[in-house]
Amino acid sequence: MPLFRKGHSAGMLNRSHSRHPPGAVPVEPDDYRDFMSRFPTGVAVVTATDRSGRPWGCTCSSLCGVSLRPPVLSVCLTPWSRTLAAARESGRLGVHVMGVSGQAVAEVFAAAGDRKAEAARFLAAGASGWPRIGGAIAFAACTVAGTHRVGDHVVVFGMVMSVECHAGPPLLHGLRGYATWPTTPGKLGRHVNLDEPTSTLGNK
Ligand SMILES: Cc1cc2nc3c(=O)[nH]c(=O)nc-3n(C[C@H](O)[C@H](O)[C@H](O)COP(=O)(O)O)c2cc1C
Repeated sequence: MPLFRKGHSAGMLNRSHSRHPPGAVPVEPDDYRDFMSRFPTGVAVVTATDRSGRPWGCTCSSLCGVSLRPPVLSVCLTPWSRTLAAARESGRLGVHVMGVSGQAVAEVFAAAGDRKAEAARFLAAGASGWPRIGGAIAFAACTVAGTHRVGDHVVVFGMVMSVECHAGPPLLHGLRGYATWPTTPGKLGRHVNLDEPTSTLGNK
């Protein structure tokens, strides 16, 4: 059975995203960016190999767990992303969840122009066709289960074929900057008591 049906409501969004109810004031892109910047996320670098065998990668905060059975995740990429093109060509997508030691790597994979060329030296083609980078605390090897254009981005659905998880604090991003997880690395496996005052969580 297909993972999702074509022509779902996202298609309607594509046709009507610029229409607003009479009297409604359209939300400006900068205001929408401000809104989303208040929602902190982890930082992922997604990678893929194009048909010539060249690996590509892109820093990405739009990682989302979609389904547990089967295990499916999604990322949203711009239609002109080289990483998206490579994922479509190879049918494979690698998803690295970055740790705090991976911030410099994430910055390079988010850069444009010449700086982007630097990214190539961090990429190593994985044995089974999923390009790998350093600085990650978790990795998911995915096959591309589908793509769906929504407005100015493309949602890519990845069927998770295998995962690796390592110790270490995740890198975070919010309010237009990077941040670190507010507990010490040794405490990450600790069950957090939600009744505990949050101000003490990082100090134990
Ligand atoms: C923290 C952070 C998160 C980002 N998340 C996304 C994202 O979810 N989707 C996206 O298309 N671009 C995202 N970007 C921008 C891309 O990393 C950047 O445009 C990159 O150069 C695209 O590379 P590519 O075109 O080679 O795929 C993000 C940048 C940063 C710094």
